[in-house]
Amino acid sequence: MKKTDSRPDAQLYIRVLENIDRAVIALDPGGQITLFNPAAQAITGISEKQALGRQFSDLFGAQKNFLYLVKTALEGERSISDHEDLTLERPTGKPIPVSVSVSPLYNDSGFSEGAVLIIRDLSRVRDLENAVRRADRLSILGTLAAGLAHEIKNPLGGIKGATQLLAMELSGENLELREYTDVMLKEVERVNGIIEELMDLSRPRPPQWTPVNLSRVLDDIVLFQKEGYRGKDVEFHLQLDPSIPPIQGDDNLLTRLFLNLIKNAAEAIEKHGKVTISTRVASDYHLNKPGGRPIPLVVIEIKDTGPGISTEDIDRIFTPFYSTKTQGSGLGLATCQKIVNNHNGFLKVTSKPGEGTIFSVSLPLRTAEPNERKPAPAGME
Ligand SMILES: Nc1ncnc2c1ncn2[C@@H]1O[C@H](COP(=O)(O)OP(=O)(O)OP(=O)(O)O)[C@@H](O)[C@H]1O
Ligand SMILES: [Mg+2]
Repeated sequence: MKKTDSRPDAQLYIRVLENIDRAVIALDPGGQITLFNPAAQAITGISEKQALGRQFSDLFGAQKNFLYLVKTALEGERSISDHEDLTLERPTGKPIPVSVSVSPLYNDSGFSEGAVLIIRDLSRVRDLENAVRRADRLSILGTLAAGLAHEIKNPLGGIKGATQLLAMELSGENLELREYTDVMLKEVERVNGIIEELMDLSRPRPPQWTPVNLSRVLDDIVLFQKEGYRGKDVEFHLQLDPSIPPIQGDDNLLTRLFLNLIKNAAEAIEKHGKVTISTRVASDYHLNKPGGRPIPLVVIEIKDTGPGISTEDIDRIFTPFYSTKTQGSGLGLATCQKIVNNHNGFLKVTSKPGEGTIFSVSLPLRTAEPNERKPAPAGME
């Protein structure tokens, strides 16, 4: 390629490589690493010093997919763009989902002098996809459950009426049998309570949008929880960013959301432990609306030192009625997911068995107009 005056100077190339959020790794024709930009260090967890001069296959040899891509590019034939569904194993930290592009690197005379790999961290994208998938699943389940609840409510009314009549017939006569009808009535009431809760989840009242001060909501909940867990040794810590302005939301629904999450965290603690509630403005991502300005997100984290949740169970906990507690309805997290969807936010859970759990709610820090979504149809969104 002929050098022209309009070509940017080398310093600009360097700055671009240093600031781009994708890992850029260049290799010489022998497969030795010749460039390893800062994002490559952040994404792989390998420092530039450890990487430069090393064989790519030494560092990433266990990952056959990566080797295949690099080999294809080094042989000079082909570029492969955005190969998705790859997992990057790292010396430290968890494996992460990535997409990879590779191209042969040509010099000015048109000869191949190696290859360049560009790696993009897809963790955040996958998190969002999971949240959407969960919301879809809830939507189907919610419609089904609402229909079922309706069907159960009518015969339940019949059972209740008949039991009351039976109780009246038995009055004064046989006290032992009266005890049975009392149990029947109590249990019918319990089923009725669950049905009401489920119907509320499927067809909640429309949200009332007002500016909500998150610090006040969280402060109030913790004050109330402190009273409730005196028997257990649960320490509550609040780390609230005082500079976060009130957000546009429904005060009651947001209180229910955080109450459910904080209750779950405290209930997870076995004998003694800590629940930490923190708020911050996300510095690394925001919500993009086509044609609109990016909206920052507030992140509210509820972290506990409980036993954690296994990978298999994490997929189930949002399903209505899934509960591992004797007194639990299993509707808490389904309700949380629904409220977060209503507020155009995201709900994420990370947990390691033995190390505790973090529920993280991201809500748009929108101070002006409320929810622009159309009202949800009957059934869960
Ligand atoms: N912080 C947590 N740590 C460990 N397990 C959790 C945590 N939060 C939720 N879970 C698991 O997820 C299940 C479902 O939670 P969910 O809030 O939906 O229902 P529940 O708490 O069992 O009942 P309810 O909320 O109606 O009292 C719980 O039973 C528990 O097994
Ligand atoms: Mg719960």
